[in-house]
Amino acid sequence: MRFLGNKTRMLDNINSVIVQNNIGGDVFCDLFSGSGCVGEFFKNRFSIIANDYLYCLSVISRAKLENKSTPKFLKFTKQFGVDPFKYFNDKQFQANAQYFITNNYSPKGNSQFFTEENATRIDGIRIEIDELYKNLIIDDRERSFLLASLVESVMGVSNTTGTYEAYLKNWDKRAFKKLELTPIEIGNVNAIKTNTVYNKDSNELIRTIKGDILYIDPPYTITDYSSAYHLLESIAKYDYPRISGITGRRQELKKKSKYNRKENSPIQYR
Ligand SMILES: C[S@@+](CC[C@H](N)C(=O)[O-])C[C@H]1O[C@@H](n2cnc3c(N)ncnc32)[C@H](O)[C@@H]1O
Repeated sequence: MRFLGNKTRMLDNINSVIVQNNIGGDVFCDLFSGSGCVGEFFKNRFSIIANDYLYCLSVISRAKLENKSTPKFLKFTKQFGVDPFKYFNDKQFQANAQYFITNNYSPKGNSQFFTEENATRIDGIRIEIDELYKNLIIDDRERSFLLASLVESVMGVSNTTGTYEAYLKNWDKRAFKKLELTPIEIGNVNAIKTNTVYNKDSNELIRTIKGDILYIDPPYTITDYSSAYHLLESIAKYDYPRISGITGRRQELKKKSKYNRKENSPIQYR
């Protein structure tokens, strides 16, 4: 997954710190889990507690830590005769006033994050995932898996350099690919432990959990993740937030993470 601060390339280093220092225990806590790759790597050796304050990232960790493989979607498949990925990829959608992404983040809303066609597909799929859940055709774990798959699939057709603080003035060819809903990949599938994923502020969560290994990878640059990924958060939550500015950021963003604020740092570098 293209994600700011993704530690995929550091996994062997993190592991060697654990091995060289003979660190043992049962529960590994990853309290700023982002792309979820660290928990995914260690899940066959420890029970993982993962957490991220962005909902769109917590669903990705849930998909990777709660499933050994792509869920079977038994009820869905029985009802529709195909799995939800084929179903959604074959389906045509028609935008309407409820289509939040189309109306705000495509040329229809004077924006260029997505082509109108892909934005319409994002809205159509996202709205139907919740209808399926409400009608008990998919369960909570399956819903999370579909949301994680949608978030990751959306990244592949976004007209951006990777984050959503700006869209490109000229369309990138990536944006013209048809949005296909692809099942998110689950690595390290031999997992046998029970894992838990939270979507909270780590400063609060830490007072309520217990574990043996604490891995903390908070933001370490000025980039505020809730701003960088605001659009993925709106797709995952689909909560029709109040938005502002040319890039349509969520207004709640005024609550910047303390980890991105210089004044909160105990050491002030110049
Ligand atoms: C450097 S990234 C972590 C990268 C992750 N280790 C990976 O490999 O993908 C920092 C993460 O902390 C999250 N974050 C920032 N402030 C937070 C807070 N107060 N509580 C929980 N998560 C927070 C951000 O959303 C971001 O995903």
